Amino acid sequence: MILEGKKIVLGVTGGIAAYKSAEIVSRLRRSGADVHVIMTRNATEFIAPLTFQTLSRNQVVSDTFQTPENWQVEHVALAQLADLFLVAPATANILAKMACGIADDMLSTTLLATKAPIFVAPAMNTGMWTAEATQENMKRLTQRGVRVIGPGTGMLACGDSGAGRMSEPAEIVAEIENWFTQGQDYRGLRVLVTAGATRERLDPVRFMTNDSSGKMGIAIAKAARQRGAEVTLVYGAVTQPLPEGVTCIPVESAMDLRDAMVAETPAHDVVIQTAAVADYRFLNRFDTKMKKQSQREITLVLVENPDVAAEVGKLKKPGQILVGFAAETNQLEENAEKKLEKKNLDLIVANDVTRPGAGFNTDTNIATLIWRGGREELPLQQKTEMAQRILDRIQLLRSGNSVS
Ligand code: PMT
Repeated sequence: MILEGKKIVLGVTGGIAAYKSAEIVSRLRRSGADVHVIMTRNATEFIAPLTFQTLSRNQVVSDTFQTPENWQVEHVALAQLADLFLVAPATANILAKMACGIADDMLSTTLLATKAPIFVAPAMNTGMWTAEATQENMKRLTQRGVRVIGPGTGMLACGDSGAGRMSEPAEIVAEIENWFTQGQDYRGLRVLVTAGATRERLDPVRFMTNDSSGKMGIAIAKAARQRGAEVTLVYGAVTQPLPEGVTCIPVESAMDLRDAMVAETPAHDVVIQTAAVADYRFLNRFDTKMKKQSQREITLVLVENPDVAAEVGKLKKPGQILVGFAAETNQLEENAEKKLEKKNLDLIVANDVTRPGAGFNTDTNIATLIWRGGREELPLQQKTEMAQRILDRIQLLRSGNSVS
């Protein structure tokens, strides 16, 4: 009964996935929650309010002005009562209303008034989901701290196949349970994370890169998000799915990464740089595929890339925490300490990438956390676990409490 005593308001909007929301109510109830359902008028065309009333054992509220029996429910009462607000399915329409602050029915009015954390489970046709307007609305919502569950990919009710399927009820309820069980010590903080490998192009089909998979950075982004942060992830080439509820900014080269980081750093409280950044790029980049030469040897000239972390270090504001990673093959701590100083970092995560189970493209890592005044060994562990330990150490540094 993870949700024992929690009051959850479920907004149901008009989409075919509305029938799945009945299972969400059952699962939330089984987990101990007191569930209150608000339906839009369109939702009532897909599923009868009586279904939700029976399952939730609470009166179902629908359009403010259409159902006189509901007028007794003051429009902000549910907004204040909610420990958590979930909109599932969330149509493109309700997401657009939320993004713009439109309050023209019971659900949108209550959503605008609530101070509770809001989760949305979008469900719509792929074209609507990928439309620039919807994606811009999603960006605004996630930047405001709205958490997004899904949507999944697959066969849609309209016959199309692609992104837009509402996540399964079990997954939605698990996310909510997770949120209640995780500590929320990052709530109110904005965390910027870099992940993955940069690519330095030689021509349209060839590039220079490295083995970073993005696992470490994505684990940190997810963990920070679970702990309540608003997270921005700047990512290069990654092999992992991107985390949900996080603002994701794709980059290719070190120069792209630099531009994104210079723009994003000032708006963040914590910056964690796990990306494996190329130190050099090709002097000449060809616009067409480079042809095989007649000589047996050719020389490609490399020029130095900017040190992004060092540039971020120059932008550091009081109170901001900057974290770097050091991928080392020898003299781990000595080299990492030099990087801590050179890049004006508060913390460096030194991983010896020659050790089995550590470094690039593994699910585990081994690292030493080094800061001015202390160090901590993190033995072999899952990157997901290490992400939590790094976030713990950052909180200690923020509170000025970090001793080894
Ligand atoms: O992605 P995974 O497969 O999970 O692998 C994780 C990892 C091994 C990539 C990660 O744990 C790690 O060590 N990341 C840092 C890799 C790296 O580039 O290390 P470095 O020692 O060369 O750089 C030190 C720091 O400066 C890093 O924070 C790096 O992001 C930054 N840097 C480096 C070069 C450069 N031109 N600009 C930078 O900002």
